[in-house]
Amino acid sequence: MTKVKSRREFLKTGSAVTASFMIVPRHVLGGKGFVAPSDKVNVAGVGVGGMGFSNMQHLGPNANVTALCDTDWDYAGKCFKKFPQAKQYRDFREMLVKSKDIDAVVIATPDNTHAMIAMHAMDKGKHVYVQKPLTHDIYEARALTEMAKKHPKLITQMGNQGHSNESNIELAEWVKAGVLGDVSKVECWTNRPVWPQGLPYPKDEVALPAGITKEGWDMWLGPAEYKAFNPAIYHFKWRGWWPFGTGALGDMACHIIDPPFRALNLGYPTTVEAYSSTFYDRDFHAAETTSESAPSASKIVFNFPARGSMPAVKLVWTDGGIIYERPEELKDQDALGWDGGGALLHGSKTKAMTGCYGDNTTLVPFDKMSSFTKPAPTLPRIAGNQGGHERNWIQAIQQGDPSFASCPFSYAGPLTETILLGNIALRVSNLKNPQGRPLVKEQIRLHWDGPAMKITNLDEANQFVKREYRKGWDLGA
Ligand SMILES: NC(=O)c1ccc[n+]([C@@H]2O[C@H](COP(=O)([O-])OP(=O)(O)OC[C@H]3O[C@@H](n4cnc5c(N)ncnc54)[C@H](O)[C@@H]3O)[C@@H](O)[C@H]2O)c1
Repeated sequence: MTKVKSRREFLKTGSAVTASFMIVPRHVLGGKGFVAPSDKVNVAGVGVGGMGFSNMQHLGPNANVTALCDTDWDYAGKCFKKFPQAKQYRDFREMLVKSKDIDAVVIATPDNTHAMIAMHAMDKGKHVYVQKPLTHDIYEARALTEMAKKHPKLITQMGNQGHSNESNIELAEWVKAGVLGDVSKVECWTNRPVWPQGLPYPKDEVALPAGITKEGWDMWLGPAEYKAFNPAIYHFKWRGWWPFGTGALGDMACHIIDPPFRALNLGYPTTVEAYSSTFYDRDFHAAETTSESAPSASKIVFNFPARGSMPAVKLVWTDGGIIYERPEELKDQDALGWDGGGALLHGSKTKAMTGCYGDNTTLVPFDKMSSFTKPAPTLPRIAGNQGGHERNWIQAIQQGDPSFASCPFSYAGPLTETILLGNIALRVSNLKNPQGRPLVKEQIRLHWDGPAMKITNLDEANQFVKREYRKGWDLGA
């Protein structure tokens, strides 16, 4: 048998394409989570009507799509049609029990159900690719991270595909090589929400669309409290509603905060504070639009402590089209970010900017790039030789090498926890005291004990760290 090379060994010896694999058929070795490198990986998709459909099409030639599960068979119809050989299910639990030919599961349901489905799949020995943000709550992200640690042979990946981008990796190398100097401030922004958000919750009950059954609706809601069906909370739009989605921050920060989070090795923040847009429906009366919906625009400030020789960092997030400040060094016509978002790192030597998916990383001002010699690569390249994040996951499964996966839960978990902390800071403004008055009078700064998973200066805020699951639903495993 030829030993399969680790990701680091690949880097040393050049292209991963030339690596030799063990030629051992699946049935000889077997075991939980085992796929012989000579075999294709049998993949199931859960939630395949939107991004999941795209993920299934990007798995590459070393994957077979063997099962597809969706609660809405009309919405998922185009995916079912594309993979006619795959068995179709409405309930992932039934699929995991009945389908014998599943090695790995792609999960692209709304944020609300990621953790529950991933946990069940991992418990059944399946490798998992889970869309971003990894989970809906901080507690769930911690639980999945622990689960992955307990099952080190399972290959885990979060679907923030920009993490595999060459220029995202380069930013980390520039920081490591000291190109930026000390970085103590980062600004991140997005044009999201690009769906209705900051609205009162729809009250009407509307008949279920033809593609989804009553049981399917129950499954779509998952652990969230029971709600009547309404198209305003359904496909894609669920992002704006706290019971199901995680707002603009949850939607985009796993892409946009990811490059500085990796490059600066940020870890857990110690404080967070949030400011959001308000809507006055009459004089001096703010309409209550954000208790169930995320606001239409917000600013969130995270403070990270010093790490080794790296100074403390203030990271400012803005969404809803608001940008913190345009750097003076940029020419008036220069674009600020790419694809509707970006991150700007303020270094003591220079600033650097990266796009929405860690793309187009550049020094600021841009003309510095013409005389800039990039430092030699020191980190493994994932995307360049394999054509994408999904394929990277498939290849890691074939190699049986968790270190080959670009964005495993050991990284994705803490990143997701940090991002979701921002939503807690947003949501505390809706907390009420027993007299029905706002508990938090003005926007306050929350103190976070990351390892203990606890807000230490406002106990009521901890209810958002771990939500109550609806009766009959559990995280599994
Ligand atoms: N990485 C990216 O660039 C990217 C882009 C878009 C979406 N996403 C992520 O993908 C996920 C899905 O987003 P979307 O825009 O595709 O949403 P969507 O509403 O368009 O699609 C979700 C699909 O999941 C199905 N579904 C819902 N609950 C289910 C359940 N319990 N079991 C089985 N199927 C279920 C729905 O019927 C639908 O087909 C989200 O987590 C989102 O953040 C990532």
